Amino acid sequence: MTDVALMERVVWPRCKSALSTNTRRLAEINKLVEARLKDLSVEQKVAQLIQAELASVEPEDIRRFGLGSILNGGGVSPNANKRASIEDWWNLANEFQTAARESEAGIPIFWGTDAVHGHNNVFSATIFPHNIALGAANDSDLVERLGAATARDVLDTGIDWVFAPTLAVPCDYRWGRTYEGYSQEPEIVARLGSAMLCGLQGDPASTEFFDENHVVATSKHFVGEGSTLDGIDQGDALCSEIDLLNIHALGHIAALKAGAQVVMAAFNSWNNEKVHGSWYLLQEVLKDQMGFDGFVVSDWDGFAQLDGDPETACIRSINAGVDMLMVSSDWRGVYERVLNAARIGEIDDVRLNDAVGRILRVKALRGMLTPNWRLPSTRSKQTLGSNSKRELAREAIRKSLVMLKNSNGLLPLETKKRIVVVGKSARDIAQQCGGWTLTWQGTNNETDDFPDAVSIESGIRGVISAGGGVVSFIDEVDDETDADTAIVVFGEEPYAEGEGDLNHLSFSQDDSLPLAQMKALNARGIPVVALFLTGRPRWINPELNASDAFVVCWLPGTQGGAIADVLFKDSANTVRYDFTGRLAFSWPLDSSLTCIDRDSNQPDSYLPVGYGLTYEEKVSFEQLSETDVSMGTSLRGPSFQGSYNYPNP
Ligand code: GLC
Repeated sequence: MTDVALMERVVWPRCKSALSTNTRRLAEINKLVEARLKDLSVEQKVAQLIQAELASVEPEDIRRFGLGSILNGGGVSPNANKRASIEDWWNLANEFQTAARESEAGIPIFWGTDAVHGHNNVFSATIFPHNIALGAANDSDLVERLGAATARDVLDTGIDWVFAPTLAVPCDYRWGRTYEGYSQEPEIVARLGSAMLCGLQGDPASTEFFDENHVVATSKHFVGEGSTLDGIDQGDALCSEIDLLNIHALGHIAALKAGAQVVMAAFNSWNNEKVHGSWYLLQEVLKDQMGFDGFVVSDWDGFAQLDGDPETACIRSINAGVDMLMVSSDWRGVYERVLNAARIGEIDDVRLNDAVGRILRVKALRGMLTPNWRLPSTRSKQTLGSNSKRELAREAIRKSLVMLKNSNGLLPLETKKRIVVVGKSARDIAQQCGGWTLTWQGTNNETDDFPDAVSIESGIRGVISAGGGVVSFIDEVDDETDADTAIVVFGEEPYAEGEGDLNHLSFSQDDSLPLAQMKALNARGIPVVALFLTGRPRWINPELNASDAFVVCWLPGTQGGAIADVLFKDSANTVRYDFTGRLAFSWPLDSSLTCIDRDSNQPDSYLPVGYGLTYEEKVSFEQLSETDVSMGTSLRGPSFQGSYNYPNP
């Protein structure tokens, strides 16, 4: 138990949900839930607390046990078929729901999935930019539209619950989940996170909330995941309670007010106590003080990380305030242990009924407790993979690009020129999508796994062909290389969660080839435009120095062709789209720095939050130090005229 009692106590804010304005509906819901609770046996109640993973559960198990939920983990699909069709997904969901209806209690299941940048587990779905790009776009209306589009795609596959938005406030770029955060600024996380939540769930004050076009969202991961020591995933968040509240919980506070009905517990510890076992954080803070009336779902076997007897970990996690246990494989064992604990009073009736009641309440809010509820057919209105989704993705990409440097106004480029595109990243769809794409890590994906995708290369080829220019594509510069301008595309390989943790930020330390290509182009007098695919700020002073223009593309998703829309003028030689993206994370220019700059008090060591050039700004970008700055060499960032006010829409 964290010795919170010994620390200065913090009073957490009461988060009045926008849902609570509909008092008549809530009263009816509560009455319905009370009635159902009374009818349930202890076995049926415990079953509702179990979420089984798709690869370990069959519809027959649901018919027999009446489990509350299933999930498909990252990269898990019907029949382990990465290319399962929309019909395959919907038919399987319908099999599970039919089995649930035929179970003894007859309560429908929730199916949860990580649709974190579009419906990213599903073949042919449009993959949207990751959250770090949306933070750079900083457009709440756009994020809400992305949420609504994602909800529609998820419903097309018969699924009703999305484990998004992630409301992390990343503080150390070595963390492999940095790109799942919108920004280092809690206010931006709160604003964009609640926009995503409303897009997914519908406006809580309107009839669209949880209607046939919206899903259940998840405020995740509560709380403190972005502040672990050294950015170690699932590590120990050492921040004060007031920082936990004012920085890391701000997104969750906004989400609860916007009608969040599910919170996912965080893997990390806070002051050496795992959140999954923290009565203080889950019950006293989240439920009692903040007034959260939905349910808390564990993360992937998150309860199993508690210290002490592994056999009782799931029981202790429930008693700490987790209501539903996300179980990777041994759901039967967890069910038996929780059932036994409920029977002998180790989980008392009050806690059991509270947990089940919270889960049933959310199902009731979605109308799933009405008699003979059935999975709505979506065949007549499927839009997954439609052109409207691709156009929405292109808009998001255009708005997310951040131009760090543009010496001599090299950009925008004319299409009637000779362009050479350098690097395999220009045609690597998996790389432009990043983690959480078809597979958990976003790896082991081939181009034809993405039927609706457009690579960066294809986008460039399209605009140049239309403009009468000439373009060639090479992996490496040689003595024959000649062009008016070169575009070097490079970046991080896909990763997710702790697999992406780093112990440094230098990019060329991991991959020196792009820098070598840039220098070879410099030697041939060919101007260089660098396009950087990344899930986080990296130390790239050498690459910045070797480029005439430098654009951060983040992880744009399947519609990478949209980058050309901004890079190139149209055939009438006018700018199609100017840059509007701004850094939502401070960008370190000092190789010894790995954390955010929260106070913008190091003008020479960071490009600040809000930095981003447009075609109008003329900026002289002085050469940056390429050595370890802690050696005392001076460091000069860009000297630009005027000041940057981070635009709030
Ligand atoms: C993962 C992630 C979480 C995700 C869950 C289900 O470990 O921490 O964000 O929703 O498992 O895939």
